[in-house]
Amino acid sequence: MTRKVITYGTFDLFHHGHVRLLQRLADLGDHLTVAVSTDEFNAIKGKRSSIPYAHRAEIVAACRYVDEVIPEEHWEQKRRDIERLEIDIFAMGDDWAGHFDDLSDLCEVIYLERTKDVSSTEIKLFVRSA
Ligand code: CTP
Repeated sequence: MTRKVITYGTFDLFHHGHVRLLQRLADLGDHLTVAVSTDEFNAIKGKRSSIPYAHRAEIVAACRYVDEVIPEEHWEQKRRDIERLEIDIFAMGDDWAGHFDDLSDLCEVIYLERTKDVSSTEIKLFVRSA
């Protein structure tokens, strides 16, 4: 039986922390869906990406570990996605540890350790100061 994994995130300025997370997520199952936050949803989260949604989605879809990209448009869609896509594992980096435990009635919920010393925010700060 196919084990399906899903994760959510902005994935701005795609970096090796993102690659390593997606690689480990792909290793958890046979099919990886990535829900990429839209620009409108980022605005709700108080985030502003350097790269627009369509390009972030294109970049994530080009990663060899990713099978499918969908838009993340609001906080409440996770339950619907998990049921609709028949997801077995919901997984995020551990900066979100505990935040989505309520989904464990639908599927397994896992938090993976973040890669140290890299983030989209740090890259932006570094480029600005260079
Ligand atoms: N992630 C990771 N290791 C990092 C950075 C991100 O494992 N060094 C994971 C996050 O935990 C999340 C996913 O990648 O599950 C998408 O994270 P995102 O917020 O887009 O990346 P950040 O680099 O953390 O972005 P920001 O600085 O804007 O918060």
